[in-house]
Amino acid sequence: MVQNKVLRLGCSKIGASAESPRDPQQEKDSAVQHNVDVQAMSATARGEERVCVIGCGKSGLIGCKVLTQRGVAFDCFEEGSQIGGLWVLNNDSGRSACYDSLRINTSKLVTRFHDFPVPKHYPMFCPHQEMLAYLESYVDNFGFRKHITFRTQVVSVIPQLKCGFTVFTKALDTGKVLTRHYTSVIVACGHHWDPLWPKFTGNFMGSVSHSHGYRSPKPFVGKRVLVIGGGNSGMDIAAELALSGAAKTILSCRRPVHVVPRWVFGMPSDVAVQPWLGVTVPRRWVELCAAGAFWLSRGGSQESYGLPTPKFGLFGTHPTVNPGAGDILQLIKKKKVTPKPGILCYKDNTVTFLDGTSEEVDAVVCATGYNAKVPFLPEDCPVTKDGKTELMHLVVHPKLPGVYFLGFIQAHGPMIPCVESQMSYAADLIQGVSELPPPEKMGKTIAKQHDFNRKNFTQVERHALMVEFHRYLLQTQMARCPKDKRGLGKKLWRTKRFLQFCAGQTC
Ligand SMILES: Cc1cc2nc3c(=O)[nH]c(=O)nc-3n(C[C@H](O)[C@H](O)[C@H](O)COP(=O)(O)OP(=O)(O)OC[C@H]3O[C@@H](n4cnc5c(N)ncnc54)[C@H](O)[C@@H]3O)c2cc1C
Ligand SMILES: NC(=O)c1ccc[n+]([C@@H]2O[C@H](COP(=O)([O-])OP(=O)(O)OC[C@H]3O[C@@H](n4cnc5c(N)ncnc54)[C@H](OP(=O)(O)O)[C@@H]3O)[C@@H](O)[C@H]2O)c1
Repeated sequence: MVQNKVLRLGCSKIGASAESPRDPQQEKDSAVQHNVDVQAMSATARGEERVCVIGCGKSGLIGCKVLTQRGVAFDCFEEGSQIGGLWVLNNDSGRSACYDSLRINTSKLVTRFHDFPVPKHYPMFCPHQEMLAYLESYVDNFGFRKHITFRTQVVSVIPQLKCGFTVFTKALDTGKVLTRHYTSVIVACGHHWDPLWPKFTGNFMGSVSHSHGYRSPKPFVGKRVLVIGGGNSGMDIAAELALSGAAKTILSCRRPVHVVPRWVFGMPSDVAVQPWLGVTVPRRWVELCAAGAFWLSRGGSQESYGLPTPKFGLFGTHPTVNPGAGDILQLIKKKKVTPKPGILCYKDNTVTFLDGTSEEVDAVVCATGYNAKVPFLPEDCPVTKDGKTELMHLVVHPKLPGVYFLGFIQAHGPMIPCVESQMSYAADLIQGVSELPPPEKMGKTIAKQHDFNRKNFTQVERHALMVEFHRYLLQTQMARCPKDKRGLGKKLWRTKRFLQFCAGQTC
């Protein structure tokens, strides 16, 4: 990979690139010799905005759609041979964690683009095939497929000294490397592809895999399986294994988690809190009401089913939603899934847990989450550091103005509205409607986010990108305040935007 270093001084909008040769013919000849994309190069040399979108999962698609609507020129590069990212089973990008039985765990009422309805006949928690079909129809409806180049990996993004970015792409089928120049870059490459592995203390003789590679329960039929991790992957896989012929299913959670029901009193549990409620009512009150409703709907505490209840509140972690495969609490109650605390050590096929108990297992599935990584960006600009985000509003890295991150987020809610909100903010910055604050102010905003997360979420690595759903949507919308608004004008703009937000206009 081309080694990256930050070479660039910040700029929000490019004029003629200082590196551009003056003679157009000379520029073209030199470009051809160096495998440079002439169209992209000359557009930026003319001072036109041209954006590079990296990845076409949900986030990249939102990026492409908004740029198309706003008339901004762009190219999108996708490593796989189709759109959809995570929602493509066996995606040839090698990055998707999709498994045969995967369904959305956020209801279709909220897991939707604000201006493109989910088909009426879809079930409330649709399977991955339907989510993919929805994404495909989104691309066709807004007509931007022609801007996507498939089987093309972005290998490096190098900020330039004056302005803009040099982007190196590699065609995966031919190995051809191309260099292009862009004024802005949208990073939408996802953060659920680089498995985070737990440490194994001792010697385990059985098979070990990660949930990222899990596709179906078939390889585990007749086996005693230990699933590590109490997130959505861990619970989903444990429930499915228990119902699909595993000889024994053990679920180890090093920290107890709240299991959120999919339905509460006949309604998907994620539609109860409306935008106005989410930003006006104190968090603790909403949390207590939700916890009470869940208690009533399941008819008792989760402890009464055999799963320990955490000491922290319901909103203290990224929610683990009751699996699509089967009710995890019922499976625990019926002893089809055995809950265990964290792991002390392994010896041959024996696993000893922190409570001193032991189990014999044949296979371990590590559903222990992911590292959020962006390998094509400069090494000194990571997305997270020491379990905290490095991005302002989870969109802008202060050392990389002109690069916009989409989808680097975990929320108490669906991803699509978060990314739509991120993209409307990014697009305003790209078009110069609003502007970035100075670096020290960005640092203060990031510090505020850290402070909020420290007070409100359990301090684990996986909450580095955690946000409070509605508050975050409002925060990104407020950041869009046009740069020409000052004093009273700014206050009026913010008040109007707040009222629009409360009425449901979240991006
Ligand atoms: C198992 C699982 C289930 C989930 N279920 C839900 C759910 O029900 N509801 C919800 O709201 N969220 C869910 N999420 C969160 C989920 O990650 C998002 O909903 C969303 O699909 C992520 O979209 P994305 O575009 O950000 O990333 P991805 O879908 O991962 O797409 C990223 C794309 O970028 C491409 N790419 C990566 N690197 C490069 C490169 N260098 N060059 C070119 N292309 C590149 C990849 O090939 C991929 O196509 C789930 C996550 C997981 C892991
Ligand atoms: N639609 C769906 O049904 C569905 C299905 C699967 C996943 N998802 C989504 O995919 C994303 C990733 O979910 P995920 O469950 O794969 O990962 P995750 O949310 O990061 O959860 C990882 C789990 O593993 C535990 N863990 C991490 N490191 C560990 C270690 N070293 N030892 C023991 N335990 C460890 C964590 O515990 P701590 O809390 O203690 O760190 C946590 O319980 C989330 O956004 C999730 O919502 C959705």
